[in-house]
Amino acid sequence: MNLIVVGPPGCGKGTQAEALIRKYGVVQISTGNILRAEIKKGSELGVKAKELIDKGQLVPDDVIIGMMRERLQQDDVKQGILFDGFPRTIPQAHALDELLPELGIELDAVVNIQVSDEEVVKRISGRRVNIETGATYHIVYNPPPEGEQVIQRDDDKEETVRERLTVYRKQTEPIISHYQDKVVDIDGQQPIETVTAEIFAKLESRS
Ligand code: AP5
Repeated sequence: MNLIVVGPPGCGKGTQAEALIRKYGVVQISTGNILRAEIKKGSELGVKAKELIDKGQLVPDDVIIGMMRERLQQDDVKQGILFDGFPRTIPQAHALDELLPELGIELDAVVNIQVSDEEVVKRISGRRVNIETGATYHIVYNPPPEGEQVIQRDDDKEETVRERLTVYRKQTEPIISHYQDKVVDIDGQQPIETVTAEIFAKLESRS
């Protein structure tokens, strides 16, 4: 199974990725997680990326495409891929259109998780992340286990979230029509387990 999960910031891409990995054994490729790992290392890429991410802006396409070209050379992609946060622009989608056939990989579906802007702000302001494991929680909807060390992401401040939403509607939403009949629309406003069940049911009905 090879999937793209798309949707506005905070729609639940990372949360649903965890369930999809458990069910299909796919490997998650999250450009956001790769960039955050570079920031943590303090690499040149990480320093440049942090400046943009903290403003809610996108990292340039050539940087992201180069990064993905390299990531897709690893052997684990053969077990199936879940792209989380990539592609995020039309040029990135075109680059992926070229990369996948080179690797003999066929895309099965694009899971489009739909949520309103108000819900996004509510979710992101309550999000907490375990920086060691990457596990994502919400202080109300999905609280972290007692004693687990969690932090709030630097780009989760309300004004940055609003900018991320504007960038999403302008630059990322147009990629959905690029994928046409591969798109599976999901109502992301429902509780986490209900969203997971809808994704599984819709993916199963396509296979
Ligand atoms: P990235 O890390 O990809 O962030 P994002 O797309 O903004 O998505 P998020 O990680 O914020 O949210 P999510 O959809 O995974 O939601 P989650 O499951 O955590 O990118 C960060 C930045 O990196 C970008 O802004 C950009 O600068 C840069 N970048 C990354 N990729 C790039 C690319 N390809 N090109 C250029 N730049 C790039 O859930 C959110 C919260 O809600 C959690 O607390 C969760 O517990 C809760 N929750 C989830 N589902 C539900 C539910 N159904 N009900 C109630 N609560 C829920």
